[in-house]
Amino acid sequence: MIQNLAFFGATGGCAGSCLAAALKQGYTCTALARTPSKLTAFMHEKDVDSFTLDSHLQIIPGDIRDLEAVKQTLAHADIIVSGIGAYPKFQWSPRKPLALIDPAICADGISTILQACQELQKPNAKRKKPMLISISTAGVQTPGKPRALPLLYLTFYYWLLAEPHADKVALEAKIHEYMQLQGNQKGIEGYILVRPSILLDGEKKGVGDVRAGLPEDPPVGYSIDRRVDGEWIFEKLVRGGGADGVWRNGEVIVTY
Ligand SMILES: NC(=O)c1ccc[n+]([C@@H]2O[C@H](COP(=O)([O-])OP(=O)(O)OC[C@H]3O[C@@H](n4cnc5c(N)ncnc54)[C@H](OP(=O)(O)O)[C@@H]3O)[C@@H](O)[C@H]2O)c1
Repeated sequence: MIQNLAFFGATGGCAGSCLAAALKQGYTCTALARTPSKLTAFMHEKDVDSFTLDSHLQIIPGDIRDLEAVKQTLAHADIIVSGIGAYPKFQWSPRKPLALIDPAICADGISTILQACQELQKPNAKRKKPMLISISTAGVQTPGKPRALPLLYLTFYYWLLAEPHADKVALEAKIHEYMQLQGNQKGIEGYILVRPSILLDGEKKGVGDVRAGLPEDPPVGYSIDRRVDGEWIFEKLVRGGGADGVWRNGEVIVTY
């Protein structure tokens, strides 16, 4: 049975590539976008035709912190894909040369999504709960588990990328905390956190070139293409049923 998918952050390369792949395969999708025309243009760039956009994609205009818009986006979702992230700004500070325009967007965004799922669930306890797939970063290390980062990257991640890294740590913590709720209080069926290494828009390899692993035995790698990351999420987690399988309720590190 083809499922309904809900997207957040689909004007970004990862979630956008997942959305384009889903639309081309006939999935019915709803996506929240601050600027709907930007999302439509992005889908055209990815060779999604106008007929498919009109018939299979509903765009809800709005911000991720707008609970009502998020609830509208999630109304029929079986699977949620979120690639929300903040844009960087460089500043004259040796301690923190790279800051974010919206440093808590990932944590705030996931809180709104989780609250919306809970509120949609309450009046209809029999409603099938959605699975949540959220993009984090390979820089987040599960306590007691091996590092997924090459040694060369350590300074880079913990100094230059400290602020984005902190937001992703907060995002993951919010999901883990939410999963501690009693079954009937949770609005999601389960979750998968996808932790990519550095995202590039460079040489596009294929989904078959992606190495993926759990925190117990993470693949250590330098980068992955945004488009391939998104296509991998579609192939392995959405279409391939990975959301119900090996990666369910865990973190998956992905890299070339
Ligand atoms: N850069 C890296 O090397 C790296 C490595 C690992 C993980 N990541 C993370 O991976 C994720 C996906 O990255 P990406 O490059 O595909 O996407 P991205 O370029 O970071 O795009 C971010 C997305 O979030 C949306 N967004 C931001 N603030 C929003 C708000 N207030 N309301 C609604 N939407 C909002 C943006 O929409 P607009 O178009 O409206 O701005 C855009 O669709 C991000 O969380 C990123 O931080 C990045």
